[in-house]
Amino acid sequence: MAASSIGLEPMAPKGRPPGIFGARRRMGGMSEPFLIGDTMTGGYGKGPDILHECTVKVDKGEIAVIVGPNGAGKSTAMKAVFGMLDVRSGAVRLNGEDITKLSPQARVAKGMGFVPQTSNIFTSMTVEENLEMGAFIRTDDIAGTMAQVYDLFPILKEKRNQAAGELSGGQRQQVAVGRALMTQPQVLMLDEPTAGVSPIVMDELFDRIIEVARTGISILMVEQNARQALEIADTGYVLVQGRNAHTGTGKELLADPDVRKSFLGG
Ligand SMILES: Nc1ncnc2c1ncn2[C@@H]1O[C@H](COP(=O)(O)OP(=O)(O)O)[C@@H](O)[C@H]1O
Ligand SMILES: [Mg+2]
Repeated sequence: MAASSIGLEPMAPKGRPPGIFGARRRMGGMSEPFLIGDTMTGGYGKGPDILHECTVKVDKGEIAVIVGPNGAGKSTAMKAVFGMLDVRSGAVRLNGEDITKLSPQARVAKGMGFVPQTSNIFTSMTVEENLEMGAFIRTDDIAGTMAQVYDLFPILKEKRNQAAGELSGGQRQQVAVGRALMTQPQVLMLDEPTAGVSPIVMDELFDRIIEVARTGISILMVEQNARQALEIADTGYVLVQGRNAHTGTGKELLADPDVRKSFLGG
């Protein structure tokens, strides 16, 4: 598989059927998830709490999707998990380790990658320079990882010497995801990776995200395209006003009448 060694570890068959579609996430299982933002409460600076005991988690090689209305706190939850926001109570744990107090940079060193919702590429730099910047914490040879990113997103190889700002929306998102993969993360956090792209490009990006997850990298992503995102989600979270409103497998949420009526347009 093209991206088979972007991650640090190969996918371990932990007693479940292979393939992301065969995965059956057990909610509230006994074992500690790979990454968890656990009952997080917090806000910006000295401002009011935006998150209220919000919990999101993702297991190894799984896709967890956060959906919900505008202003629900989805991006804030992502920032909290990545260490860009003080959590006033609650904790963030990665692979069992409490990382609540770590800086975002330290979290990257621990295996987390984050693609923020906006300003996620350097538009005046070339595609290849963006990927090189992505590898900033690495001191080893990055050529192999870059080749893997180009395998995953062949158009980026073709356009590697073009300024990233000249690319289409979907291609820019590929640059952003590729840049985050350059640190060889074990968990990739994506805030609205398909924002502003056509349905065809969205499907294509989702396919690439599934491909990344199949290599064993955990995906925690926020999506506006709730229905399509829940279709590929092992676990889904509906956030409303900074709180967990609904949690379940993607399938469960897609079938839930309340979720359908309020968040999926019926
Ligand atoms: N940098 C910030 N400083 C202060 N408040 C913010 C900031 N970013 C977002 N907010 C507020 O936090 C709330 C949730 O925003 P956000 O997490 O961006 O929602 P979503 O991503 O679900 O659309 C909103 O009320 C928003 O105004
Ligand atoms: Mg947002």
